[in-house]
Amino acid sequence: MIADTPVLSAHNLRKTYGSTTALDGVSALIRAGESVAVMGASGSGKTTLLHCLAGIVLPDSGSVLLRLPSVQGDITTLDDAGRSLLRRRDFGFVFQQGLLIPELTAGENVAMALMLNGVPRAAAEDSAAAWLARLGLAGMEQRRIGELSGGQAQRVAIARAQVSGAQVLFADEPTGALDSRTSAEVMQVLLESTVNAGKTLVVVTHDPSVAAWCGRTITLADGRIVADTAGAAGILR
Ligand SMILES: Nc1ncnc2c1ncn2[C@@H]1O[C@H](COP(=O)(O)OP(=O)(O)OP(=O)(O)O)[C@@H](O)[C@H]1O
Ligand SMILES: [Mg+2]
Repeated sequence: MIADTPVLSAHNLRKTYGSTTALDGVSALIRAGESVAVMGASGSGKTTLLHCLAGIVLPDSGSVLLRLPSVQGDITTLDDAGRSLLRRRDFGFVFQQGLLIPELTAGENVAMALMLNGVPRAAAEDSAAAWLARLGLAGMEQRRIGELSGGQAQRVAIARAQVSGAQVLFADEPTGALDSRTSAEVMQVLLESTVNAGKTLVVVTHDPSVAAWCGRTITLADGRIVADTAGAAGILR
């Protein structure tokens, strides 16, 4: 069920890099419990938009309003420490390659996110094991990342992104390195663990079949939104 309140809203975001306009006046309203795919050609501004929404990149102008029970306000007015706290506590991130630490086990990779927030090791490892089990990796906590398949490694990344209690998950090409069957499995796990639990998911993808899992697709071209359509997610899921 989609709540009425916007959890995140972008207002007239502009961002240039030298003579390149990455975002050219983007406004969008994302509600709690929504799953939103961001599509568009290479260079159209997808990653820049995701990074502005997530407080990784500051826009040149425009605002990003966040409304969570724990925190409300324009995140573009926060300093580095404030945005960093949001990224550690309220937002989660999944990338194409999970950016997991290969020397650590699956459990340690997930637990580390909590330990960086000051959670003691034993409690962090318990939470990590619970998340891994929830995402279908029960009993694999002790495996190193290199001993996992690509899809399993992405599940570890999804667990790590959420173990600290993130309410909004951002994913940039999370299935970009996976075959189509594994992509579908990873999208299923992503949606089940976020949207089905009332959290919000924003996924950048080139793949229409990945976007089809989401409730809505925003399409960018040259830094502008050229389409914003409800998806077929309800039918497919
Ligand atoms: N840090 C940066 N410095 C300079 N230019 C940048 C930077 N980040 C993005 N750009 C430029 O801004 C534009 C939008 O980039 P962005 O990464 O948002 O595109 P994208 O839609 O994610 O593309 P892709 O599908 O290839 O990942 C591109 O022209 C890109 O070259
Ligand atoms: Mg990109």
